[in-house]
Amino acid sequence: MSTTQTAETVSRLRCIACGATPDSAGQDFRCTACGDLLEFYFPGWTSGAPSEPAALKSLWLNRRTSRGALDQSGVWRFRELLPHIPAEHAITLSEGNTPLYHLPRCARATGVENLRAKHQGMNPTASFKDTGMTFAASSAHQGGFRWVACASTGNTSASMAAYAARGNMHSLVLIPDGKISWGKLSQSLDYGALTCQLRTDFDGCVRILNDLVRQKPVYLLNSVNPYRIEGQKTAAIELMEQLSWEPPDHIIVPGGNLGNSSAIGKALLEMLEVKLISRLPKLSIIQARGANPFYRCVHEFGGKKLEPMTADTLATAIRIGNPASWKKALRVLRATGGEVEQVTEVEIAAAKAEIGADGIGCEPASAVTLAGVKKLRRSGFVKPNDSVVLILTGHLLKDPDFTIQFHRGDLFADTPDESETARAKSLQRAPVVLDANLGAVISALDAAERNS
Ligand code: F0G
Repeated sequence: MSTTQTAETVSRLRCIACGATPDSAGQDFRCTACGDLLEFYFPGWTSGAPSEPAALKSLWLNRRTSRGALDQSGVWRFRELLPHIPAEHAITLSEGNTPLYHLPRCARATGVENLRAKHQGMNPTASFKDTGMTFAASSAHQGGFRWVACASTGNTSASMAAYAARGNMHSLVLIPDGKISWGKLSQSLDYGALTCQLRTDFDGCVRILNDLVRQKPVYLLNSVNPYRIEGQKTAAIELMEQLSWEPPDHIIVPGGNLGNSSAIGKALLEMLEVKLISRLPKLSIIQARGANPFYRCVHEFGGKKLEPMTADTLATAIRIGNPASWKKALRVLRATGGEVEQVTEVEIAAAKAEIGADGIGCEPASAVTLAGVKKLRRSGFVKPNDSVVLILTGHLLKDPDFTIQFHRGDLFADTPDESETARAKSLQRAPVVLDANLGAVISALDAAERNS
């Protein structure tokens, strides 16, 4: 139950660009020498794994039967691979422990037989953010902060507000006015955050927050905070455990601010380093075409620069034009040999409905993964016999407006009838309004049976 510090869990901060190793991070979590991002590393691992890999695996498995709060968390269960935070500061909602599902219909539609989804939307606040937030909010608690804050497209803010509430801290949310889903906004209100809807986009919210943390004693909980990345690593560790430590050929993630891809990639590299796995999956990142700065960074600028853009997509979670973690993401993309793809709005909507039709569902930003695999399959990067795991980042109920508009046919009313639009239309299941009589319902049932 306790977290003990050993030589192996001693972590240090390091700048990803100039390699400086500061003893602590400033309010903005940027390197004071060059301004780039910081990351954790574990000097003790150079002499080998934190423990024997087999011993670690059985320790983590045994914790599943423990009643200890930390052991029941799918994040803290793997604490040997995380920086040390004393147990009395841990704020947990039993996050992680998310299911790995087969997607048989999506597999048929994609031409990849072995297609699975790790559903991070099955976390306590219904998105993957909880795995990073439990850890970073705990570090805020350890630092004695009264206020925590983030800029967000809705999921980070929902998660932060929940964990701040559990840790008796106040939370300040900066979100773009009118560009996040009601489901997410309603969460931060209910969890008691001070919620400011700014008349700007996500990138504008980030700029204001960065200035704010330099003036006020507020703890920054965006994914530039390296504790967030450490917590989010555990999704990949848990995934490998679910696959009996046999890595898939591909892991596919959506790309927005690029914290999640960086975290999953970091976990894969570290698991290889400490011999928990013996080979690396290829980690590929998918962006919406209207919010594709990383796609352009890789395909137009050879990874040399990232040109910020004004982003636009109905997948509002990834409506981000200036991703903070692009250098970290580029590094793991290259280290694992992954690809970057972009997908259209119609492709996202069709993929979302297909994941729904498998009885799973997700929010629009998560569906870029399936849309991306289809493209990677067509380009030959993903082979029919490859094993593929999609990381679904948010729950279907995060954005019901999108889903209802899609099924009613209102989402792309003016889009030309290209093949993907036709495919999307075939997935639409508009609600049927009927008179309240048995005959009308039986007719509807018979018609549906004829069309099935
Ligand atoms: N999927 C969902 C559902 C998200 O909420 C986000 C990011 C992403 C994917 C992209 O992940 O930023 O790590 O590349 N949402 C952030 C937020 C930005 O504020 O909730 P990323």
